[in-house]
This record gives sequence, C-alpha cells and structure tokens, in this order.
Amino acid sequence: MTATSEPRTAAVTGATGFLGTHLCDRLLDDGWEVRGLSRPTSERGDLEGIDWYVGDLFDDGTLRSLVDGADAVFHLAGIGLWSAGPDTVWTVNRDGTERVLEACRDADAGRVVFTSTSGTRRPVGDTDFADESDVAEPIGAYQASKAAAEGLVDRYAETNGDALTVHPTSIFGPGDEEFTAQLLAMGAEPTMPAYLPGGLSIVGVSDVVDGLLAAYEHGEAGDHYILGGENLTYDRAVSRIADAVDGSPARIRVPATAIRAAGPVAEVVDAVADRRMFPFDRQMATLATQRLFYTSRKANEELGYEYQPLEAHVPDAMEWYRASVT
Ligand SMILES: NC(=O)c1ccc[n+]([C@@H]2O[C@H](COP(=O)([O-])OP(=O)(O)OC[C@H]3O[C@@H](n4cnc5c(N)ncnc54)[C@H](OP(=O)(O)O)[C@@H]3O)[C@@H](O)[C@H]2O)c1
Repeated sequence: MTATSEPRTAAVTGATGFLGTHLCDRLLDDGWEVRGLSRPTSERGDLEGIDWYVGDLFDDGTLRSLVDGADAVFHLAGIGLWSAGPDTVWTVNRDGTERVLEACRDADAGRVVFTSTSGTRRPVGDTDFADESDVAEPIGAYQASKAAAEGLVDRYAETNGDALTVHPTSIFGPGDEEFTAQLLAMGAEPTMPAYLPGGLSIVGVSDVVDGLLAAYEHGEAGDHYILGGENLTYDRAVSRIADAVDGSPARIRVPATAIRAAGPVAEVVDAVADRRMFPFDRQMATLATQRLFYTSRKANEELGYEYQPLEAHVPDAMEWYRASVT
C-alpha cells in the first residue's frame, strides 16, 4: 500500500475462531480495515481494531452489511462434529456458505475466499499424496457439508462471481484447543502415553494465513488450492515435538484395530441413545488409521505458497499451551 492509497477492506466470517483470529491479526498488521462477523455469544479475544458485525450466518441483514463494499470476503465460519450434531454441521457449513454467497451477490463484494478442508480430497490408487483433483467420496457430515459448500462456490464462480476455495490440512498453532493441544500433549506430557496410528499433513497456522492471502491475490476464480504442510506419521510428529520441547513422547501406539473397533461401538451407542454421542462412525474411525498425505505443489507453483517445518511452529504453540492449557 502506498502512503496515499485507501486501505483495503476485508470481511471475515469465523473471525472469532482459531484460524480467523490469526488471519485478522495479520490483516490488521498489513494495514487492512477488518470487519469480523461475531455471534452475540462469541469470545472476541483481545485483538484491537476489528469492526465487529454481530449476528450469525443466518442473519441476512448483518451478513449483507458485513460484505458490502469489502474488497475481500474470507469465509472461514464453520463447525465440526466435535461441537455439533450432523444436522447443525450441514446447516452451518453448507447452508451458511450459501447465505454468504447470496449476500456477496446482492451486495457490492469483492473476491470470496472459501475455507474448506483437505478432507474432501484423499489419496487414490497408487498415489501417496492427494492433490486437488483427488476428489473423495465424503465421509461423515463434516466432509459432506464442506463438499456441498465447495459446489456452491464453484457455481458462484461459474456464474460470474469471483470466488475460490482453499483446502487446509490439519492446522497447528497457538489458540487451538483441539488438534494442536492434543498433539502437544502427545509430544510433551508424560501423562499422555498413547499416540495414534496413521499419518497426516500438519500445517502451521501462519502458513495457512499466508496461503489465504496468496489465494486472494493470485488465485484463479473457481479454482481449488490445497494448503498443506509436512506429511508425517503420528509417531514421527510426536517424537519431533518431543525433541523440540525436550518432552516425553507418547510411547504406545493405539492399535489400528482398536480404533477401527471403536467405529461400530460408537454407531451402536448412537443408535441406542437415539442421538449422536460420538463424532465418528465406522468409516471415520477407519480413516483415522490411514496415512492422509497431501501435496501443496499447485499452491506453491500458482500462488507462491510455502510452508515451514513443524519445528518452526512449535515454540509459539508451546508457549500458548503452557500458558493456557496445562
Ligand atoms: N482447524 C483445522 O485444522 C482446520 C483444517 C481444515 C479446515 N478448517 C476450516 O477452517 C475454518 C476455521 O476453522 P477453525 O479451526 O478456526 O475453527 P473454530 O476455531 O471452531 O472457529 C469457527 C468459527 O466459526 C464461527 N461459527 C460457527 N458457527 C457459526 C454460525 N452459525 N454463524 C457465525 N459464525 C459461526 C465460530 O464462532 P464462535 O466463536 O461463536 O464459535 C468461530 O468464529 C472452518 O471452516 C474449518 O472447517 C480447519
């Protein structure tokens, strides 16, 4: 930005969440004017300078004012099966995206960057690393809702809207009480004896923020970009964290058979209780035992996206974990 140019305006849904907080922080640092969507009940944290729009994804008036005149709309709001049942997950992720796109179509909004998940892609056949073209049959309501939302974003772009989709893998960084806190516990806490079989792509939250901004600047409307990090088996990830923090890594690998066995049990309990008690079923339990590795080559070549090794992200995450979680 030159000294005389107007600051750009970003509208961010999910601004009160883990990724949203980091994105807003960066946008403010970079000189953007930032509007954040916040539910009345959301914890807004201590970031100063955000213009808050209070409402949820189904409050059309609030959404319209949020996106009106924004140069960029980062649609991050979403929900997973740990926090809600499958019906809510579908409604928030699929229908909420529809509402955001409708508001953008009606208002004078710039490019929409939609945050989906790498879970809508999976390695197929002999491929070890999934890319954007490896579209997978969704497993569970979360993946299904994100895949449906991606379809809406694709259609919006096909009908002269400016929108694209990014697919982060498992995001690691300060403020994430789920995945990051669990992984740090497995690497650092002597009380956490077990780790999972299988493997995953772990990406630092600051790298995902870089990717979101690069997608806004350089992405192709209607296109999809995986934003991944290092592909690691759980035992490798856990021992690398342990080395980085001088901790005691979890030493017992939970057998894949035990995890696969938990799937049917969860299904039976859900059926007996007549409501969702576990965030996974048979298929999702099987998935947790596999190596879900991804390549970010396309984002690298087309957006200039780069990621750092896990160790680069451990100190900040560990500082937060020690101060807030333990
Ligand atoms: N974390 C990961 O590893 C990961 C990986 C791939 C993709 N993603 C995707 O990235 C996005 C951000 O994830 P995150 O980890 O930052 O999640 P998060 O911490 O749970 O944040 C979710 C955000 O969505 C908001 N939200 C939920 N339901 C809403 C509704 N009905 N109306 C308005 N806002 C609503 C939440 O508001 P409250 O503060 O009020 O709850 C919060 O701001 C999500 O779409 C997620 O699916 C995450």
